[in-house]
Amino acid sequence: MCGIVAYIGDKPALPVLIQGLRRLEYRGYDSAGVALLNGDSIERVRSVGKIDFLTDKVKTRPPAGTLGIAHTRWATHGGVTEENAHPHVALDGKLAVVHNGIIENYRELKEQLAGVNFVSQTDTEVLAHLIGRHYHGDLRSAVQQALAHVRGTYGLVVMHADHPDQLVAARLGSPLVIGIGEGEHYLASDATPILPYTKKVVFLEDGEVADVSRAALETFNLKDETVAKHVEEIDWDQTQAEKQGYPHFMLKEIFDQPTVFQDAVRGRYDLTEGTGRLGGINLTEEEMRRINRVVFIACGTASYAAMIGKYAFERLVGIPAEVDVASEFRYRDPVVDDRTLVFAISQSGETADTLAAVREAKRKGAFVRGIVNVVGSTIARETDGGTYIHAGPELAVASTKAYTNMVAIMLLYALQFGRLRRVSIATGQRLLSALREIPEKMKAILAQSDEIRSMAEEYIRHRDMLFLGRGINYPVALEGSLKLKEISYIHAEAYPGGEMKHGPIALLSPDFPVMAIMTRNQLYDKMRSNIEEVRARGARVILIATVGDDRAREISDRIVYVPETMELLEPLLNTIPLQLFAYHAAVALGKDVDRPRNLAKSVTVE
Ligand code: G6P
Repeated sequence: MCGIVAYIGDKPALPVLIQGLRRLEYRGYDSAGVALLNGDSIERVRSVGKIDFLTDKVKTRPPAGTLGIAHTRWATHGGVTEENAHPHVALDGKLAVVHNGIIENYRELKEQLAGVNFVSQTDTEVLAHLIGRHYHGDLRSAVQQALAHVRGTYGLVVMHADHPDQLVAARLGSPLVIGIGEGEHYLASDATPILPYTKKVVFLEDGEVADVSRAALETFNLKDETVAKHVEEIDWDQTQAEKQGYPHFMLKEIFDQPTVFQDAVRGRYDLTEGTGRLGGINLTEEEMRRINRVVFIACGTASYAAMIGKYAFERLVGIPAEVDVASEFRYRDPVVDDRTLVFAISQSGETADTLAAVREAKRKGAFVRGIVNVVGSTIARETDGGTYIHAGPELAVASTKAYTNMVAIMLLYALQFGRLRRVSIATGQRLLSALREIPEKMKAILAQSDEIRSMAEEYIRHRDMLFLGRGINYPVALEGSLKLKEISYIHAEAYPGGEMKHGPIALLSPDFPVMAIMTRNQLYDKMRSNIEEVRARGARVILIATVGDDRAREISDRIVYVPETMELLEPLLNTIPLQLFAYHAAVALGKDVDRPRNLAKSVTVE
């Protein structure tokens, strides 16, 4: 998400920080700031917008100093304003903090910090004051004690005006790398800003705190016990570093999924009550019970995620739910009223058709809520509530991690509404327990990436492909076929398994392979019959099947096994092999994976 840079040494810190921020700009780009220790006081400059705006601001009177921290922000709490930009300060400006991640219990902590005058809406400012509260002359100890009260994720760096030879850094869930130079140290949220200066780095692990001076680097755990660290040599070049070693952003984002999935759901459910806890819905329980219809509006991948929301709402809430492609909804004179809840789903929050559909739905008197990735985006601002999906910046044009997080949030919404109607506490708890197991199960699928690559390489000689799924896996098939066509340019279409015999079966031949999702769920036998029909026409079959289903092998040419989960959660897993298949096919065909022809990441025109 956001990017951190910090420097302690004998060079002027500002150029190191600014250069570093530029190299991290790909991580987040809505505002930026620096804080340097100049004499005995901290000088801070912040700006909304790109790093260029910050450089313009520091041009006239550049803050001096050889120790400093810097941040480029990708908003998670609070809008994009200068007050919300990092570094945040406490103790009358003597302590400054930059932070990546999300402090979940920041509201509770804020209440405990009575008497503090908060000037931003951020969780980070709360963290700065919490560290300030624990500061009695020992900066490291203040950080350790404060973090003991924190729930959530962080990568952070702290400086204090009375400690001119010290930076304290800590990590839990958000990466931090420390570069080791001669009498100097560089800290950053990934290796990119460090590479021009040194290849020797230490990667902080979760739960570790680093005490960094010009000459020394010591690492501890939160209980202040020393932790020995291994110094590594990295040989990445610049672009590899931005992609954290992955050859493309798309692959990095596919592999980000277990982590960002946790960011999406953390703190947003209540296991004891077996329900979702998404405060952003901005409706009373009474209003929620009055809702008698849900309409999802979205474009592209978001619309396929929305279809999963439809299945979840129908099954858990028992009210009609439908998906409308935004470009159709806006011109169709849609029937919505004050008992309709409209969800606008969008990664960018800027898609022109989705935005127009939001306005149309509002005009007709529906409740309109957003499920959006980019904080402060137009759709986020124009909807009367909703939820950020916390997928972090998604840079590849083909959406992957945003899709998964959209699905996760819709499932939580469906559960939250469902618990007010027909879902029992036990069912709710079962679903949440299964949800908590998803990241590990995702990892088991990602571990098969090489095998999926060999499959993709075998199939790229075909010009067409049919994707089949049924029930909750029909939208998965749609998403798989979209991924394949948009980045590999292989023609692909998706059909519900049962509908195949009404047309597409005419296309099948040994040259027209089929990718089918046949996981163990209530439609397993039906899907199996459809595969038999495919095989009878001589078409080759790749199957996505449940681990342990040995019989599935008999009716497939290639197979990917995915872990078992509750049926409603299957798309969170079953989509991943299809993302990997499309990715590897596109790479094998030599296509520009991250920037496919004719497509744009954010379609802000009609
Ligand atoms: C474009 C992108 C797709 C995306 C769609 C909707 O077509 O290429 O990847 O799914 O827009 O974008 P949104 O930002 O609204 O989710």
